[in-house]
Amino acid sequence: MLTNVLEKQLKELKQIHRYRERVILPKDIVDFSSNDYLGLKDNPYTKEKLCKKISNLSLGSGASQLVSGYTEIQKELETFLANFKETEDCLVVGSGYLANTGLVQALTTEEDIIFSDELNHASIIDGIRLSKAKKVIYKHNDINDLEDKLKKNPSKRLSFIITDGVFSMEGDIANVKDIIFLAEKYGAVVIMDDAHSTGILGEGKGTLFHFCLKPSENIIQMGTLSKAVGSYGAFICGSKVLIEYLINKMRTAIFSTALSPVQNFISLENLKLLIREPERRKDVLEKSKYVAQKLKDIGYNIHFFGTPILSLILGEDKKALDLREKLLKEGIFIQAIRPPTVPEGTARLRITLSFNHTKNQIEKLIKTFDNLYREVISHE
Ligand SMILES: Cc1ncc(COP(=O)(O)O)c(C=O)c1O
Repeated sequence: MLTNVLEKQLKELKQIHRYRERVILPKDIVDFSSNDYLGLKDNPYTKEKLCKKISNLSLGSGASQLVSGYTEIQKELETFLANFKETEDCLVVGSGYLANTGLVQALTTEEDIIFSDELNHASIIDGIRLSKAKKVIYKHNDINDLEDKLKKNPSKRLSFIITDGVFSMEGDIANVKDIIFLAEKYGAVVIMDDAHSTGILGEGKGTLFHFCLKPSENIIQMGTLSKAVGSYGAFICGSKVLIEYLINKMRTAIFSTALSPVQNFISLENLKLLIREPERRKDVLEKSKYVAQKLKDIGYNIHFFGTPILSLILGEDKKALDLREKLLKEGIFIQAIRPPTVPEGTARLRITLSFNHTKNQIEKLIKTFDNLYREVISHE
Protein backbone atom coordinates (compact mmCIF):
# COMPACT_ATOMS: atom_id res chain seq x y z
CA MET A 1 0.00 0.00 0.00
CA LEU A 2 2.62 2.52 1.11
CA THR A 3 4.94 1.58 -1.75
CA ASN A 4 2.20 2.20 -4.34
CA VAL A 5 1.36 5.62 -2.94
CA LEU A 6 5.01 6.68 -2.76
CA GLU A 7 5.84 5.31 -6.21
CA LYS A 8 2.97 7.32 -7.69
CA GLN A 9 4.33 10.51 -6.14
CA LEU A 10 7.87 9.76 -7.29
CA LYS A 11 6.59 9.20 -10.82
CA GLU A 12 4.86 12.56 -10.71
CA LEU A 13 8.07 14.25 -9.56
CA LYS A 14 9.94 12.70 -12.51
CA GLN A 15 7.27 13.88 -14.96
CA ILE A 16 7.59 17.50 -13.82
CA HIS A 17 11.43 17.36 -13.61
CA ARG A 18 11.40 17.75 -9.81
CA TYR A 19 12.84 14.34 -8.97
CA ARG A 20 15.99 14.56 -6.84
CA GLU A 21 18.90 12.22 -6.46
CA ARG A 22 22.04 12.29 -4.37
CA VAL A 23 25.33 12.07 -6.22
CA ILE A 24 28.78 11.06 -5.09
CA LEU A 25 31.06 13.19 -7.21
CA PRO A 26 33.98 11.31 -8.78
CA LYS A 27 37.36 12.79 -7.89
CA ASP A 28 38.01 14.05 -11.44
CA ILE A 29 34.86 16.22 -11.52
CA VAL A 30 35.35 19.84 -10.47
CA ASP A 31 32.74 20.87 -7.92
CA PHE A 32 31.33 24.39 -8.38
CA SER A 33 28.40 23.74 -6.03
CA SER A 34 29.97 23.39 -2.62
CA ASN A 35 29.64 25.93 0.18
CA ASP A 36 33.24 25.25 1.13
CA TYR A 37 34.09 28.81 0.03
CA LEU A 38 37.42 29.03 1.85
CA GLY A 39 38.61 25.52 1.00
CA LEU A 40 38.69 24.55 4.67
CA LYS A 41 36.82 21.25 4.66
CA ASP A 42 39.91 19.34 3.54
CA ASN A 43 42.65 21.51 4.97
CA PRO A 44 45.74 19.54 6.05
CA TYR A 45 46.52 21.83 8.97
CA THR A 46 43.36 21.00 10.96
CA LYS A 47 43.60 17.34 9.91
CA GLU A 48 47.06 17.13 11.40
CA LYS A 49 46.00 18.88 14.60
CA LEU A 50 43.04 16.53 14.87
CA CYS A 51 45.29 13.47 14.47
CA LYS A 52 47.43 14.65 17.37
CA LYS A 53 44.42 15.45 19.55
CA ILE A 54 42.08 12.59 18.70
CA SER A 55 43.09 10.24 21.52
CA ASN A 56 41.96 12.90 24.01
CA LEU A 57 38.60 13.56 22.34
CA SER A 58 35.39 11.59 22.72
CA LEU A 59 33.97 10.52 19.38
CA GLY A 60 30.42 11.35 20.40
CA SER A 61 28.89 13.66 23.00
CA GLY A 62 26.70 10.91 24.40
CA ALA A 63 23.67 13.04 25.31
CA SER A 64 21.85 16.30 24.84
CA GLN A 65 23.75 19.34 26.10
CA LEU A 66 21.12 19.71 28.84
CA VAL A 67 21.77 16.18 30.12
CA SER A 68 25.49 15.33 30.08
CA GLY A 69 26.58 16.08 26.50
CA TYR A 70 27.95 19.59 27.14
CA THR A 71 31.74 19.48 26.85
CA GLU A 72 34.78 21.68 27.51
CA ILE A 73 35.46 21.93 23.76
CA GLN A 74 31.90 23.16 23.06
CA LYS A 75 32.31 25.76 25.82
CA GLU A 76 35.60 26.84 24.27
CA LEU A 77 33.98 27.09 20.83
CA GLU A 78 31.10 29.16 22.23
CA THR A 79 33.47 31.55 24.01
CA PHE A 80 35.49 31.90 20.82
CA LEU A 81 32.38 32.63 18.73
CA ALA A 82 30.99 35.14 21.25
CA ASN A 83 34.29 37.04 21.10
CA PHE A 84 34.44 36.80 17.32
CA LYS A 85 30.88 38.09 16.92
CA GLU A 86 31.35 40.66 19.73
CA THR A 87 28.40 39.41 21.75
CA GLU A 88 28.02 38.52 25.41
CA ASP A 89 27.35 34.87 24.83
CA CYS A 90 26.82 32.08 22.33
CA LEU A 91 24.99 28.76 22.04
CA VAL A 92 26.26 26.06 19.68
CA VAL A 93 23.68 23.60 18.33
CA GLY A 94 23.60 20.65 15.93
CA SER A 95 22.98 22.40 12.60
CA GLY A 96 21.72 25.58 10.97
CA TYR A 97 18.38 23.93 10.37
CA LEU A 98 18.04 23.13 14.07
CA ALA A 99 19.22 26.62 15.02
CA ASN A 100 16.64 28.47 12.94
CA THR A 101 13.66 26.23 13.61
CA GLY A 102 14.43 26.12 17.33
CA LEU A 103 15.25 29.81 17.72
CA VAL A 104 12.15 31.16 16.00
CA GLN A 105 9.83 28.79 17.83
CA ALA A 106 11.42 29.40 21.22
CA LEU A 107 11.37 33.21 21.03
CA THR A 108 7.89 33.86 19.71
CA THR A 109 4.35 33.62 21.11
CA GLU A 110 0.89 34.24 19.64
CA GLU A 111 1.20 37.88 20.73
CA ASP A 112 4.22 38.46 18.46
CA ILE A 113 4.68 39.25 14.78
CA ILE A 114 7.43 37.91 12.52
CA PHE A 115 8.43 39.91 9.44
CA SER A 116 10.30 37.62 7.07
CA ASP A 117 11.98 38.21 3.69
CA GLU A 118 10.23 36.21 0.96
CA LEU A 119 13.51 34.53 -0.04
CA ASN A 120 14.61 33.45 3.43
CA HIS A 121 16.02 29.95 3.84
CA ALA A 122 13.68 26.97 4.35
CA SER A 123 14.86 26.53 7.94
CA ILE A 124 13.53 30.01 8.79
CA ILE A 125 10.27 29.25 6.99
CA ASP A 126 9.91 26.02 8.96
CA GLY A 127 10.72 27.86 12.22
CA ILE A 128 7.92 30.30 11.43
CA ARG A 129 5.58 27.35 10.70
CA LEU A 130 6.34 25.97 14.16
CA SER A 131 5.74 29.36 15.80
CA LYS A 132 2.38 30.63 17.02
CA ALA A 133 3.25 34.21 16.01
CA LYS A 134 1.58 36.07 13.15
CA LYS A 135 3.70 35.96 10.02
CA VAL A 136 4.14 38.84 7.57
CA ILE A 137 6.24 38.21 4.45
CA TYR A 138 7.91 41.24 2.87
CA LYS A 139 9.23 41.52 -0.68
CA HIS A 140 12.81 40.43 -1.17
CA ASN A 141 15.21 42.98 0.32
CA ASP A 142 12.54 45.68 -0.16
CA ILE A 143 12.89 48.20 2.65
CA ASN A 144 9.84 50.24 1.62
CA ASP A 145 7.65 47.15 1.68
CA LEU A 146 9.09 46.16 5.06
CA GLU A 147 8.39 49.61 6.52
CA ASP A 148 4.87 49.61 5.10
CA LYS A 149 4.22 46.24 6.73
CA LEU A 150 5.79 47.25 10.05
CA LYS A 151 3.53 50.33 10.12
CA LYS A 152 0.39 48.33 9.39
CA ASN A 153 1.13 45.49 11.82
CA PRO A 154 1.83 46.70 15.35
CA SER A 155 2.56 43.89 17.78
CA LYS A 156 1.07 43.30 21.24
CA ARG A 157 4.42 42.09 22.57
CA LEU A 158 7.47 41.68 20.29
CA SER A 159 8.15 42.15 16.56
CA PHE A 160 10.92 40.21 14.85
CA ILE A 161 12.51 40.97 11.50
CA ILE A 162 14.21 37.86 10.12
CA THR A 163 16.56 37.87 7.18
CA ASP A 164 19.33 35.84 5.59
CA GLY A 165 22.52 37.95 5.70
CA VAL A 166 23.58 36.57 2.32
CA PHE A 167 20.71 34.96 0.44
CA SER A 168 21.73 31.39 -0.22
CA MET A 169 20.24 30.97 -3.68
CA GLU A 170 20.69 34.54 -5.02
CA GLY A 171 24.05 35.43 -3.53
CA ASP A 172 22.95 38.98 -2.73
CA ILE A 173 23.41 40.71 0.62
CA ALA A 174 20.53 41.81 2.85
CA ASN A 175 20.12 45.53 3.24
CA VAL A 176 21.02 45.20 6.91
CA LYS A 177 21.79 48.87 7.56
CA ASP A 178 18.25 49.88 6.60
CA ILE A 179 16.71 46.85 8.28
CA ILE A 180 18.36 47.77 11.57
CA PHE A 181 17.32 51.40 11.16
CA LEU A 182 13.70 50.25 10.75
CA ALA A 183 14.01 47.78 13.62
CA GLU A 184 15.08 50.63 15.91
CA LYS A 185 12.35 52.93 14.58
CA TYR A 186 9.57 50.36 15.09
CA GLY A 187 11.00 48.62 18.16
CA ALA A 188 11.70 45.27 16.49
CA VAL A 189 14.27 42.57 17.18
CA VAL A 190 16.47 41.51 14.23
CA ILE A 191 17.40 37.87 13.63
CA MET A 192 20.14 37.56 11.05
CA ASP A 193 21.06 34.28 9.43
CA ASP A 194 24.78 34.53 8.71
CA ALA A 195 25.08 31.01 7.26
CA HIS A 196 26.74 32.32 4.09
CA SER A 197 28.31 35.50 5.52
CA THR A 198 30.31 33.92 8.33
CA GLY A 199 33.92 33.65 7.20
CA ILE A 200 33.23 35.83 4.14
CA LEU A 201 31.76 39.26 4.92
CA GLY A 202 32.95 41.88 7.40
CA GLU A 203 36.46 40.39 7.79
CA GLY A 204 34.77 37.04 8.22
CA LYS A 205 32.71 38.21 11.19
CA GLY A 206 29.46 38.43 9.25
CA THR A 207 26.90 40.76 7.72
CA LEU A 208 26.62 43.19 10.61
CA PHE A 209 30.34 43.93 10.43
CA HIS A 210 30.21 44.23 6.65
CA PHE A 211 28.04 47.31 7.24
CA CYS A 212 30.27 48.49 10.12
CA LEU A 213 27.40 48.03 12.56
CA LYS A 214 27.75 47.00 16.17
CA PRO A 215 25.93 44.09 17.82
CA SER A 216 23.24 45.07 20.33
CA GLU A 217 20.76 43.49 22.70
CA ASN A 218 18.11 43.47 19.97
CA ILE A 219 20.21 41.82 17.25
CA ILE A 220 20.59 38.05 17.14
CA GLN A 221 23.34 36.65 14.94
CA MET A 222 22.81 33.06 13.90
CA GLY A 223 25.29 31.27 11.67
CA THR A 224 26.47 27.86 10.54
CA LEU A 225 29.81 26.11 10.86
CA SER A 226 29.09 23.97 7.80
CA LYS A 227 29.84 26.43 5.00
CA ALA A 228 32.89 28.71 4.93
CA VAL A 229 34.04 27.20 8.24
CA GLY A 230 34.20 23.80 6.53
CA SER A 231 32.87 21.85 9.53
CA TYR A 232 29.36 21.15 10.88
CA GLY A 233 27.04 22.69 13.45
CA ALA A 234 25.63 26.15 14.08
CA PHE A 235 25.63 28.98 16.59
CA ILE A 236 23.43 31.70 17.99
CA CYS A 237 25.21 34.77 19.34
CA GLY A 238 23.55 37.44 21.45
CA SER A 239 23.05 38.66 24.99
CA LYS A 240 23.64 36.52 28.09
CA VAL A 241 19.93 36.54 28.86
CA LEU A 242 19.05 35.41 25.33
CA ILE A 243 21.36 32.39 25.59
CA GLU A 244 20.14 31.57 29.11
CA TYR A 245 16.56 31.69 27.80
CA LEU A 246 17.35 29.48 24.78
CA ILE A 247 19.07 26.87 26.95
CA ASN A 248 15.79 26.65 28.85
CA LYS A 249 13.35 26.89 25.97
CA MET A 250 14.85 25.91 22.64
CA ARG A 251 13.51 22.45 21.83
CA THR A 252 16.06 21.67 19.11
CA ALA A 253 18.88 22.23 21.62
CA ILE A 254 17.16 20.50 24.51
CA PHE A 255 15.85 17.41 22.72
CA SER A 256 18.75 16.67 20.38
CA THR A 257 22.16 15.17 21.14
CA ALA A 258 25.01 17.68 21.41
CA LEU A 259 27.60 17.83 18.64
CA SER A 260 30.54 15.50 18.90
CA PRO A 261 33.69 16.97 20.53
CA VAL A 262 35.55 15.95 17.35
CA GLN A 263 33.27 18.16 15.26
CA ASN A 264 33.58 21.08 17.68
CA PHE A 265 37.37 20.74 17.64
CA ILE A 266 37.34 20.94 13.82
CA SER A 267 35.09 24.03 13.93
CA LEU A 268 37.35 25.78 16.40
CA GLU A 269 40.56 25.06 14.50
CA ASN A 270 39.03 26.06 11.16
CA LEU A 271 37.71 29.31 12.65
CA LYS A 272 41.18 30.17 13.94
CA LEU A 273 42.60 29.32 10.52
CA LEU A 274 40.18 31.53 8.59
CA ILE A 275 41.07 34.44 10.86
CA ARG A 276 44.80 33.79 10.45
CA GLU A 277 44.53 33.53 6.65
CA PRO A 278 42.39 36.45 5.43
CA GLU A 279 43.81 35.92 1.92
CA ARG A 280 41.41 32.96 1.49
CA ARG A 281 38.45 35.33 1.73
CA LYS A 282 39.99 37.90 -0.57
CA ASP A 283 40.88 35.25 -3.13
CA VAL A 284 37.44 33.65 -3.34
CA LEU A 285 35.73 37.02 -3.79
CA GLU A 286 38.17 37.96 -6.55
CA LYS A 287 37.44 34.65 -8.29
CA SER A 288 33.69 35.16 -8.00
CA LYS A 289 33.95 38.69 -9.42
CA TYR A 290 36.14 37.47 -12.29
CA VAL A 291 33.85 34.58 -13.25
CA ALA A 292 30.76 36.81 -13.12
CA GLN A 293 32.41 39.38 -15.39
CA LYS A 294 33.57 36.73 -17.88
CA LEU A 295 30.15 35.08 -18.05
CA LYS A 296 28.55 38.49 -18.45
CA ASP A 297 30.95 39.26 -21.32
CA ILE A 298 29.84 36.03 -23.01
CA GLY A 299 26.22 37.17 -22.70
CA TYR A 300 24.93 35.40 -19.60
CA ASN A 301 22.68 37.31 -17.24
CA ILE A 302 24.61 37.02 -14.01
CA HIS A 303 25.51 39.38 -11.15
CA PHE A 304 28.35 39.57 -8.68
CA PHE A 305 27.00 40.81 -5.35
CA GLY A 306 30.26 40.67 -3.41
CA THR A 307 29.83 37.03 -2.33
CA PRO A 308 31.08 33.65 -3.65
CA ILE A 309 27.56 32.74 -4.87
CA LEU A 310 26.58 33.42 -8.50
CA SER A 311 23.06 32.62 -9.63
CA LEU A 312 22.38 31.83 -13.28
CA ILE A 313 18.61 31.88 -13.60
CA LEU A 314 17.33 29.73 -16.45
CA GLY A 315 13.58 29.62 -15.73
CA GLU A 316 12.30 26.15 -16.59
CA ASP A 317 13.41 23.21 -14.48
CA LYS A 318 14.32 21.14 -17.55
CA LYS A 319 16.58 23.84 -18.89
CA ALA A 320 18.56 23.92 -15.65
CA LEU A 321 18.79 20.11 -15.60
CA ASP A 322 19.93 19.95 -19.24
CA LEU A 323 22.68 22.49 -18.67
CA ARG A 324 23.81 20.64 -15.54
CA GLU A 325 24.17 17.44 -17.61
CA LYS A 326 26.06 19.20 -20.40
CA LEU A 327 28.51 20.69 -17.90
CA LEU A 328 28.93 17.31 -16.23
CA LYS A 329 30.00 15.78 -19.53
CA GLU A 330 32.80 18.36 -19.54
CA GLY A 331 33.88 17.43 -16.01
CA ILE A 332 32.15 20.31 -14.22
CA PHE A 333 29.46 19.87 -11.57
CA ILE A 334 26.98 22.67 -10.91
CA GLN A 335 23.77 21.56 -9.24
CA ALA A 336 20.45 22.62 -10.77
CA ILE A 337 18.34 24.34 -8.12
CA ARG A 338 14.61 23.97 -8.71
CA PRO A 339 11.39 24.88 -6.89
CA PRO A 340 10.45 24.62 -4.06
CA THR A 341 14.03 25.61 -3.10
CA VAL A 342 13.63 28.67 -5.36
CA PRO A 343 10.41 30.41 -6.56
CA GLU A 344 8.43 28.88 -9.46
CA GLY A 345 9.86 29.73 -12.87
CA THR A 346 13.32 30.58 -11.52
CA ALA A 347 15.16 27.24 -11.79
CA ARG A 348 18.85 27.98 -11.95
CA LEU A 349 22.42 26.88 -11.73
CA ARG A 350 23.95 28.11 -8.50
CA ILE A 351 27.67 28.54 -9.11
CA THR A 352 29.87 28.79 -6.04
CA LEU A 353 33.55 29.61 -6.01
CA SER A 354 36.14 28.33 -3.59
CA PHE A 355 39.64 29.33 -2.53
CA ASN A 356 40.62 25.81 -3.65
CA HIS A 357 39.63 26.29 -7.31
CA THR A 358 42.69 26.54 -9.50
CA LYS A 359 43.19 29.04 -12.30
CA ASN A 360 42.90 26.22 -14.84
CA GLN A 361 39.63 25.00 -13.37
CA ILE A 362 38.20 28.50 -13.53
CA GLU A 363 39.34 29.04 -17.12
CA LYS A 364 37.81 25.69 -18.06
CA LEU A 365 34.51 26.71 -16.44
CA ILE A 366 34.43 29.93 -18.44
CA LYS A 367 35.41 28.21 -21.71
CA THR A 368 32.74 25.55 -21.24
CA PHE A 369 30.07 28.18 -20.59
CA ASP A 370 31.30 30.00 -23.67
CA ASN A 371 30.99 26.85 -25.82
CA LEU A 372 27.52 26.13 -24.46
CA TYR A 373 26.16 29.65 -24.83
CA ARG A 374 24.47 29.17 -28.23
CA GLU A 375 22.75 26.00 -27.02
CA VAL A 376 21.58 27.71 -23.82
CA ILE A 377 20.13 30.79 -25.51
CA SER A 378 18.69 28.89 -28.49
CA HIS A 379 16.24 27.33 -26.00
CA GLU A 380 15.04 30.74 -24.73
C1 LIG B 1 20.71 30.61 4.84
C2 LIG B 1 20.81 29.24 5.45
N1 LIG B 1 20.41 29.06 6.71
C3 LIG B 1 20.48 27.86 7.30
C4 LIG B 1 20.98 26.76 6.65
C5 LIG B 1 21.01 25.43 7.32
O1 LIG B 1 22.27 25.14 7.80
P1 LIG B 1 22.77 23.64 8.02
O2 LIG B 1 23.14 23.12 6.69
O3 LIG B 1 23.90 23.76 8.98
O4 LIG B 1 21.61 22.89 8.59
C6 LIG B 1 21.46 26.92 5.35
C7 LIG B 1 22.11 25.82 4.60
O5 LIG B 1 21.66 24.89 4.15
C8 LIG B 1 21.33 28.17 4.71
O6 LIG B 1 21.72 28.34 3.44
